[in-house]
Amino acid sequence: MTVSLQGNTALVTGAGRGLGRAFALDLARHGAKVLVNDIGGDVSGRGEGRVADEVVREIKDMGGDALANYDSVATYEGGFNMVKQAMDAWGRLDIICSNAGFLRDQAVHNMKEEDWRDIIDTHLTGAYNILRHAWPVFRQQAYGRVVLTSSNSGFVGNFGQANYGAAKAGLIGLMNVLKLEGAKYNVNVNCLGPGAATRMTENLVPEERLKTMGPELVAPAVTYLCSPQCDASGMIIEASSGDFGRAAIVRNGRVHIDDPTADKVEARWSQITDLNGAQPYWNMQQTFDQYYASKSAS
Ligand SMILES: NC(=O)c1ccc[n+]([C@@H]2O[C@H](COP(=O)([O-])OP(=O)(O)OC[C@H]3O[C@@H](n4cnc5c(N)ncnc54)[C@H](O)[C@@H]3O)[C@@H](O)[C@H]2O)c1
Repeated sequence: MTVSLQGNTALVTGAGRGLGRAFALDLARHGAKVLVNDIGGDVSGRGEGRVADEVVREIKDMGGDALANYDSVATYEGGFNMVKQAMDAWGRLDIICSNAGFLRDQAVHNMKEEDWRDIIDTHLTGAYNILRHAWPVFRQQAYGRVVLTSSNSGFVGNFGQANYGAAKAGLIGLMNVLKLEGAKYNVNVNCLGPGAATRMTENLVPEERLKTMGPELVAPAVTYLCSPQCDASGMIIEASSGDFGRAAIVRNGRVHIDDPTADKVEARWSQITDLNGAQPYWNMQQTFDQYYASKSAS
């Protein structure tokens, strides 16, 4: 099957540069009309600019259709405005790439409350601000595709990123619930763990490596996840340098201890924490079913 987004419309946040720009261009290349959102701030999320205009021009130059939006994802009104702008212009909204973001790294004992809040407001609440307004549209259309740009920092941790790692891991929880709420309406929600050479990584990754990490090498995963050809939902897909894979939260089987005490837990610790045979689950009900099945088998 050929991946095609003909007739689809997309909203990509933080699409004025970096990964978001690459996503917007690739979605447009596959036929989607794109609302290019970007507040145009600096790498710490301060200031404003019109970087979205340039990406709109690039899409139009290749024969596509695009509009710019300069709202902040960090406000509820901003999310509303984006969805309304796409609906007013094109009458439907099929794809959301919630991608806007910035960094305010500090070890937690030095982290200002403002830096905690601003990061959560943009990366995590920013996704809610858009999806809250897009969701009724998705239900009405009985169709939607969502990619939430998460991060390895949230999957496994990265020193100095308590605010960012918490927000990015929060997106996994958001995905886990919305994949269930969207299933009946053919609305799929997935998370992306990208690695790419952007201004966000230019001082963190060795220069030689950055040369192999173009954002355009990540974009094909996003385009596929956002296509009608893809029926995956609730997955964490990692993509960098043309390498693609899946990460997941897995659970092992339970270890039953009669009359448990801390000493007995200590004695069984290696068994309790053994991930051999561990697997991901679709929802909470499945975890209960697995639990009761193991009880009745024993
Ligand atoms: N580059 C990587 O390797 C990497 C790795 C993991 C996760 N990410 C995530 O990918 C996303 C894109 O990052 P990037 O590397 O392209 O960085 P980038 O700085 O090049 O692009 C981010 C864009 O988001 C915009 N933005 C910031 N706050 C906004 C707001 N409130 N409203 C609208 N736009 C806003 C910025 O103006 C900027 O253009 C981010 O969510 C980032 O956390 C990037």
